[in-house]
Amino acid sequence: MKNQQIVLAERPEGIPGPQHFSDKTTDIELTPPEGQITVKNLFLSIDPAMRGWVSVEENYLPPVGIGEVMRSVAVARVVATSHPDYAEGDYVYGMFGWQEYCITDPAMMVRKLNPELAPVSTALGAIGPNGLTAYFALFENGEIKKGDTVVISTAAGGVGSIAGQIAKLTGCIVIGLTGSDEKVAMCTEEFGYDHALNYKTCNDLEAAIKELAPNGVNVFFDNTSGSIADAVYPTLAMHARAIQVGTAAIDTWLPVPIGPRRDRYILTKRLKVSGFVILDHYDKFTEALTQLATWYNQGQLNYRESITYGLENAPTALAQLYEGANLGKQLICVADDND
Ligand SMILES: NC(=O)c1ccc[n+]([C@@H]2O[C@H](COP(=O)([O-])OP(=O)(O)OC[C@H]3O[C@@H](n4cnc5c(N)ncnc54)[C@H](OP(=O)(O)O)[C@@H]3O)[C@@H](O)[C@H]2O)c1
Repeated sequence: MKNQQIVLAERPEGIPGPQHFSDKTTDIELTPPEGQITVKNLFLSIDPAMRGWVSVEENYLPPVGIGEVMRSVAVARVVATSHPDYAEGDYVYGMFGWQEYCITDPAMMVRKLNPELAPVSTALGAIGPNGLTAYFALFENGEIKKGDTVVISTAAGGVGSIAGQIAKLTGCIVIGLTGSDEKVAMCTEEFGYDHALNYKTCNDLEAAIKELAPNGVNVFFDNTSGSIADAVYPTLAMHARAIQVGTAAIDTWLPVPIGPRRDRYILTKRLKVSGFVILDHYDKFTEALTQLATWYNQGQLNYRESITYGLENAPTALAQLYEGANLGKQLICVADDND
């Protein structure tokens, strides 16, 4: 059987794009070895974290090797099985990569999906890594509570849109920062933010946030770092919690970019600054996924997907993510479920 793949051809300096990847076709056996399953990818997740995965810089996962299939979480259907717990037709979530088929050991963090609970693609977004990131970063690092003022960057994206809605469900006042007027409207009209600001056109972001949060910001959900974070830190209230969830505004850490020092705010405002990586919360995923699915099925979580069709378009979609072209969670549809 033929398997179309996209492999890393060249290590990018900065933003990865189509020039750094190449197509490859391999032959694979449909029947997997004992204890494994063969899956056919349906949806691939395109994530800002991919820039870190293809970089040589230190990260929380080893870099993807040159010539290796690009790492990607995906939703797939089991097409052949040599594992007693998996049947042909089961839907699964796992790290299946930019390829049509993947033979894998389910012990490698594969999760079975219930298509009756929600559309399976949501396992890559609202009822998956995006929702889990929003949930744990807000409740565990951010310690959010009713009445807090919360500022969220990349507010209209996969993580940001869910974080905004969870903060609203908790009774917070929520301010979103995003990169276009269309996304500003999505934040307030679809995702229930109290306020949203276009950081690209706002003349003085710090002053605008201070006007919206006269008593200071209690929780900063920082997905970007860079100049957006520079504008938010001076707005933080006493004992505020700042969570470093992503650094989307930093193209490369070689060399480390220089910016305003935050030390004085951290000291005088007694800030709690923490880093967040979703992998640290694996043992509590079930509890959070149940809550996210409940909110979703009760119509309390609006969720938008930006779907690009065709495996070959994955590298372009990745480059466009760093231009903010996605309206909602960026996915690649690799195959129709009925294929
Ligand atoms: N730590 C973890 O475990 C974890 C897990 C999942 C995601 N994350 C982080 O969460 C953040 C959002 O991820 P996502 O999957 O939901 O992606 P997303 O927000 O759906 O898409 C990425 C967004 O980043 C913004 N962006 C791109 N380049 C930027 C720049 N130079 N300056 C400022 N903003 C820029 C754009 O939004 P605008 O148009 O609004 O600028 C773009 O739409 C990322 O930083 C990601 O790394 C962290």
